[in-house]
Amino acid sequence: MNAQIDHALEEIRRFRPSPEFAAQAVADHGLYDAARADRLAFWADQARTLLHWEKPFTRTLDWSNPPFAKWFDDGELNVAVNCLDRHVEAGLGDRVALHWEGEPGDSRDITYAELTEEVKRAANALADLGVRSGDRVAIYLPMIPEAIVSMLAVARLGAIHSVVFGGFSADSLASRIDDAEASVVITADGGYRKGRVFPLKPVVDEALGKTAGSVRHVLVVKRGENEVEWDDARDLWWHETVATASPEHEAQAFEAEHPLFILYTSGTTGKPKGILHTSGGYLTQAAFTHRNVFDLHPERDVYWCTADVGWITGHSYVVYGPLANGATQVIYEGTPDTPHPGRWWEIVEKYGVTILYTAPTAIRSFMKLGRQIPHEFDLRTLRLLGSVGEPINPEAWIWYRHVIGGGSIPVVDTWWQTETGAIMISALPGVTDLKPGSAQVPVPGISIDILDDDGVEVEGEGGGLLVVTEPWPSMLRGIWGDPERFKETYWEKFGDKYFAGDGARRDEDGDIWLLGRVDDVMNVSGHRLSTAEIESSLVAHPWTAEAAVVGASDETTGQAVVAFVILKSSQAAHVTDPAEASEELRRHVATQIGAIARPRQVFIVNELPKTRSGKIMRRLLRDLAEGREVGDTTTLADTSIMQIISAQVR
Ligand code: WTA
Repeated sequence: MNAQIDHALEEIRRFRPSPEFAAQAVADHGLYDAARADRLAFWADQARTLLHWEKPFTRTLDWSNPPFAKWFDDGELNVAVNCLDRHVEAGLGDRVALHWEGEPGDSRDITYAELTEEVKRAANALADLGVRSGDRVAIYLPMIPEAIVSMLAVARLGAIHSVVFGGFSADSLASRIDDAEASVVITADGGYRKGRVFPLKPVVDEALGKTAGSVRHVLVVKRGENEVEWDDARDLWWHETVATASPEHEAQAFEAEHPLFILYTSGTTGKPKGILHTSGGYLTQAAFTHRNVFDLHPERDVYWCTADVGWITGHSYVVYGPLANGATQVIYEGTPDTPHPGRWWEIVEKYGVTILYTAPTAIRSFMKLGRQIPHEFDLRTLRLLGSVGEPINPEAWIWYRHVIGGGSIPVVDTWWQTETGAIMISALPGVTDLKPGSAQVPVPGISIDILDDDGVEVEGEGGGLLVVTEPWPSMLRGIWGDPERFKETYWEKFGDKYFAGDGARRDEDGDIWLLGRVDDVMNVSGHRLSTAEIESSLVAHPWTAEAAVVGASDETTGQAVVAFVILKSSQAAHVTDPAEASEELRRHVATQIGAIARPRQVFIVNELPKTRSGKIMRRLLRDLAEGREVGDTTTLADTSIMQIISAQVR
């Protein structure tokens, strides 16, 4: 009966594009037709139309050595010129590129001409510090314009940026600096978050004490006005170095496959992977999807993606896609609830935002607060909403469309990953009928399949593993310094098909529903965390003997980190209060990895459920963490163990 009702609801909840929207839409059915007729010609055409090539390419794809793809590889371009100079040369220099809003309420409007000049100065300053093509520069900044300027200045020089989210700890920053052997770090004294200044430069100082010593210079933006220590031989202020550098900078063109950035993301092992992206293909797909999935009309839209540049969404849909398309966008430094819970909606009203791109976890937390908060603001400029990072449940989708979008505007749910570089599955607004809860269809030029473990296509509604069957322009080109891990992680399972690590099913209309990760990667508030990484942090604490971490479903954050820890018997004498021990371990993980990794709960237990071969059965721990009846325990070495653990947890 319930299944029937669900099904009926699903049937009802399908939304045709409005004729008015469709009439002005950027995308049309022709995109699908063109891509189906000749996928490579389609991408070549997009690359030529959307980008400026200093040297045009003649080869579209070289897939002779899978999984190492080369796109447009005999062409040359400069990514920063594509995002900046060419718009100024086209007479759009006075268009606002960034409406920046600081958390304390300060703001700056920066035009394309101003942004171009600032990037040229920063490129000159970095070149003076010895940064050359191919060198790595770590960027550890709050969401301030200098973050975007830094990324583009590095790109302009053909150097490689590695942006590290400002919430990561000194240890996490140090391991990323070491892995990439960065020669320069760009940071700020501090930034604003939840009404306070959080220090960044002191974290960099601490991190550099732990690295192998590749970093020669630290360039520091003054933002928080907090006290910082200074090393005259190493540290430079941005306002003294960049502001005084020349605003003239002749950009050099680089090959399409020239590396653009490394971005670290969690995998199934304890060590984050440095995902490598290159220039021409990446920028093509970022620009194409930004234009068509968000129906961008650059001359009139005000676009706002709420992601931080520390994540892939910030790379592709704050920096590269929007700027390549000449968009006007909002960036905001702080948290959604500072100084009041309507801050985001106040920003939408202030700048007349027309396109909003955010994560389900944010939508769900606004839902909890109630519609009266957004209703205090004028949100009528909004005409398109986007979602990314995790499955959006139909209730949140409907709430987003009604309460934020006023009831009739398109909501696009976009599936993609750090590795895919750009959106892979999404409706096209004005073209596709929308279905809440489903990410829907591959974007034109992308081929997706759902396979079982043996690589056989799953027919009908049964779930399987999501794979990308053909190379795509913005695909990762490897894992920094570890080609073997690249092959093993993504390509070993299905040969020359890319294994995404997500479960999915197709419904009878051919729409794709994402079912969550099939590996040990958790998704907390749209951020990827690995169980292994948090377990190794927990066992690094002197009190811990053993630890198991699971991602338990959570109403607001999607999943939450729940840890089960056995303390060392040698510690039993000092650690008498389990509540205190659990608090200490939560704090420890936050310090070691970053606040986003802090477990929601740490349960101190005497045993962990293991199979006869010694493998921890996380499935059973997840049952406990989610308050469910514990599942089948027959494969446990000792079947009574779950009772003991349950008693300790409750
Ligand atoms: C999940 C974020 C369902 C998925 C851009 C993927 C999603 C992981 C969606 C990548 C979506 C992202 N629906 N799940 N629309 N978007 N995911 O690398 O599990 O931070 O593998 O990239 O997030 O996370 P990442």
